[in-house]
Amino acid sequence: MRPTEILMDEHRVIERVLDALIDIATEAQRQQRLDAQAAGDALEFFRIFADTVHHGKEEAHLFPAMEAKGFPRQGGPTGVMMMEHEEGRGHVRAMAEVISAAAQGDPQALQRFRDHAFHFAQLLRAHIQKEDQCLFSMADESFNAEEQRRLTEAFERAESVEIEAGLRERGLALAAALTTGRGTVPVR
Ligand SMILES: [Fe+2]
Ligand SMILES: [Fe+2]
Repeated sequence: MRPTEILMDEHRVIERVLDALIDIATEAQRQQRLDAQAAGDALEFFRIFADTVHHGKEEAHLFPAMEAKGFPRQGGPTGVMMMEHEEGRGHVRAMAEVISAAAQGDPQALQRFRDHAFHFAQLLRAHIQKEDQCLFSMADESFNAEEQRRLTEAFERAESVEIEAGLRERGLALAAALTTGRGTVPVR
């Protein structure tokens, strides 16, 4: 499997949990109360799977490999992707800050959770589209077969050594729980 195919598969999981997050935020507005457990699980998924496992591989391995091929970070495509990852972390932090107040029905906290959930989903969906349709093709074209193989190995090493063991599985279990019975396509 090419390294970009591994990342694209992870994008599909992330998109389904974004659907679940929008569902949680919409339901909270309707009920005037946030489901703290579901919201906390969704944020945990975005922290561990979307950020640590997925963005971790992009930032530590894919982007540096592209930069070594001459793509500039400053003002270049990987620099823009890094900035968007950081912007996403800001939305996740902002949602986490208001979970308990929103779970008590505080209208401002509910509004804030909803706004950040929608902006985060919009940001990450557009980000994923840019990577799938543009950045990953540039990566595929610039690496030869040996470089692709080395990058896939680096991804495997990242998940077995650099990233805390079991994080991927924990993320996938959260995704499966969050997407089951929500009317969205569940992660299996
Ligand atoms: Fe990314
Ligand atoms: Fe990505």
